Amino acid sequence: MKTLIVYSSKSGNTRKLAEAVFDFLPGEKILKPVIERPDPAEYDFVVIGFWLQAGKADPASTEYLEKLAPSNVFLFATHGAGTDSAHALNAMKVAKELVGTSKIFGSFSCQGEVKAEFLAKVQKKDPPPPWIKDAPAAVGHPNTTDIADLQKELERAVTLLRSSI
Ligand SMILES: Cc1cc2nc3c(=O)[nH]c(=O)nc-3n(C[C@H](O)[C@H](O)[C@H](O)COP(=O)(O)O)c2cc1C
Repeated sequence: MKTLIVYSSKSGNTRKLAEAVFDFLPGEKILKPVIERPDPAEYDFVVIGFWLQAGKADPASTEYLEKLAPSNVFLFATHGAGTDSAHALNAMKVAKELVGTSKIFGSFSCQGEVKAEFLAKVQKKDPPPPWIKDAPAAVGHPNTTDIADLQKELERAVTLLRSSI
């Protein structure tokens, strides 16, 4: 199985997960930042990681997802919002809709620590964005538990994918 892992990361959280995906998945694989716009054509599996900005996938990832040729996809994300918050769940739903012509084999998201300076700035906004109340709890994430949970979802997705090809 040939896997392309594509990620976007401003402060390192999503890259940390992308590297864990790379280490975990078997077979031939390649890890690429989204700014390189890697062509998914030759890959059996395309794993795409993004971070949330303004309630949705960051702009570079949004563009990549919108233009993605039909592929077998797994999506993952990090965000300041709580893992099961409506904000985070909705952002993943919207990201899945962007890759409408692809087959989605699974997804995962978790909190990612928000830089203290940025957090302090955003907390002063009036009104503050909905996700900011959860952001203090994101300190230290993604952690080893998040990575183990991501691996479980990936394992599930790979089993499904193998049974479909
Ligand atoms: C400019 C900016 C906007 C953000 N907007 C959101 C948002 O709308 N929702 C959210 O849950 N987190 C938001 N965050 C938090 C990041 O999504 C989170 O810290 C993420 O883990 C960052 O990933 P990275 O380290 O890979 O860049 C924002 C962070 C920044 C810097």
